[in-house]
This record gives sequence, structure tokens and C-alpha cells, in this order.
Amino acid sequence: MQDYREFLKDVLITEPELQARIAEMGAQISRDYQSSTLHLICILRGGVLFLADLMRQISVPHTIDFMAVSSYGAGARHSSGQVRITLDLKENIQDRDVLLVEDIVDSGFTISSVLKMLETRRPASLKVCTLLDKAERREVPVPIDYCGFVIPDKFVFGYGLDMDEYYRNLHFIGTVDPTRYQPPETGNERQTGESG
Ligand code: PRP
Repeated sequence: MQDYREFLKDVLITEPELQARIAEMGAQISRDYQSSTLHLICILRGGVLFLADLMRQISVPHTIDFMAVSSYGAGARHSSGQVRITLDLKENIQDRDVLLVEDIVDSGFTISSVLKMLETRRPASLKVCTLLDKAERREVPVPIDYCGFVIPDKFVFGYGLDMDEYYRNLHFIGTVDPTRYQPPETGNERQTGESG
């Protein structure tokens, strides 16, 4: 595997900046969800690191669950905005205060589609928490209730966000110099993602 330092252009958000902001977000969520049945839903896979750090900053009782979605294909996704569930929730969300936890909102198609699907399950409330908002890229409007950082339209990786499925473990968010990035030769990787 290529060392990320070879294609890292800039560190966009450092580890201390991430952790300080996540602590603020956790405190805000804790204030807002007192006496609630807070249920965090992480959309796999990019949101995993954010969920793990965020939930440790939330002081009110809460539960967690996971779901995974994939597009019907890039073309279909962009024309219809539809995604399909590839891993459904384990638990019923009816009458629960659901907070969706995402690593990044880009075009908005994923979160918009997930919101529509989950609304039909009649949660008591349904809100969105994203670490990163690449607002310039939005194609469908989505409500974002908690946002860590609005970022420019640059390809980013690290802290849950991948480059061909790797580098999610990095403690910071970096930008990529695409001229220096070498995709892995084999494996299950796809083309460099649309939303990183
Ligand atoms: C990313 C991210 C969001 C989505 C945002 O997931 O985690 O779910 O894309 O993009 P959108 O706003 O344009 O819909 P990705 O499909 O890269 O999967 P991953 O989390 O498994 O890396």
C-alpha cells in the first residue's frame, strides 16, 4: 500500500480540531436530548469513527444501531436520488428519537433517501448529524441539524473516509493530491469514491 504521506496534499482538519468539535457536538446533543429516547443510527461505513467518538461525548442515555446503503448505480443515483438498503437496522425505530450519524453529506442523495425510508417507520423524531458538509456539492436539499465542519469541494480522506476503502484509520482529515495517488492494484476496491 502506498504511504498516505505520498499523496497527502494538506491536513484539512487536525485530530485535536476534530476531537474538540466532536466534544462540542456531543455536549449540544446531550442538552437537546435530555429526557428523550435518543437512538443513534450510523450509516456504514464512513461514519463509524465519528459515531465511536461522538457517543463517548454524549452524556445522556442512548442506544445505537447501524445501516448500510448503496446506490443503484452512479447514473441512477444521480437521476433518481434513490439508494437501497444493503444492511437494515436491527431494531424498530417507532416512537424513538432518531439521530442519523454520517461522516459526510455531499450531493445529499444518501441522507435524503435514508430520511424518506426511515420516516415511514414512524420515529418520534428524525434528525441528521454529520461531521462534514461539502455544501457546494449539494444536489438535493437536506436538513442538517448538527454539522461539524463545512468543507470546500476537495477530495478528502481519513477519519472514516476512504481512498479505495483504505486509509479510514487516519486520525485527521486530509486532502488528496490526485496526481500522486496510486490506487491499490488488487482487491475489492471500487473507483475512487464520489463523495470523499
Ligand atoms: C459516503 C458517505 C455518505 C455518502 C454521502 O458514503 O459516508 O454516506 O457517501 O454522499 P452523498 O451526499 O453524495 O450521497 P460512501 O458511499 O462513500 O460509502 P462508505 O461510507 O462505505 O465509504
